[in-house]
Amino acid sequence: MGNRSKNLIIAGNWKMNKTPKEAEILINKLKLENKNPACKTVLCVPFIDIPVAISLTKNTSISIGAQNCYFENYGAYTGEISAEMLKVIGVEYVIIGHSERRIYFNETDEQINKKIKSALNSGLKVILCIGETLQERQNNIIGEKLIIQIKNALNQVAESQIANIIIAYEPIWAIGSGRTPNKAEINHICEIIRNTVLNISKISAEKISILYGGSIDSKNAKEILAQPNVDGGLVGGASLDIEEFLKIINCVIN
Ligand code: PGA
Repeated sequence: MGNRSKNLIIAGNWKMNKTPKEAEILINKLKLENKNPACKTVLCVPFIDIPVAISLTKNTSISIGAQNCYFENYGAYTGEISAEMLKVIGVEYVIIGHSERRIYFNETDEQINKKIKSALNSGLKVILCIGETLQERQNNIIGEKLIIQIKNALNQVAESQIANIIIAYEPIWAIGSGRTPNKAEINHICEIIRNTVLNISKISAEKISILYGGSIDSKNAKEILAQPNVDGGLVGGASLDIEEFLKIINCVIN
């Protein structure tokens, strides 16, 4: 896969952080100081920040994403937001299946599959998160776990839609912990993920984007993003600090 041309994507996952005012300050700074327009930047912000984020990023290389959506389009689902509603206001991406939603909100592979289909049918691009626990890693079943998660997530997804899914490999033990797998391991696992998608669908390897996520920061970003099978990063904590986030975006040109 070494000769694949890469279109790097850096996505920030703000999780449950930043008010609309704080979002405005961060995005204005990002627009001023982003020296790398060739790198696609996606900000996955809390629902309440979406309107301000969209209006501030019109005609820039920055896209806006949500962190979740529901799988029905409308109806009596108190507290939920549908993919259709996100699309109507100009959202381009949605994170689906983040481990925090799987763990704290009991999201199952079946629900994740329904959310993916709903998001794709609404015209959103999906950032699908998969990853193993520490125990699964110690038991040497990383590949098996990820293959099951991918197959369940993509079950009956139209082949023509698969190119609209970005897969983020996020080892659960690496999220927010300051620890990461080593770069060779990240590359190897991202290759397993790519081959799994290639086995399921007939799309070309170029059309599959795979991000790494879990404790990316300005110190480790360059070597992780340089791995041939890594097409970008999903950045949590370090995306909340604009200086740190800019260093990650800009490191790939320096
Ligand atoms: P982290 O989070 O960068 O803070 O480890 C990544 C994520 O959860 O997407």
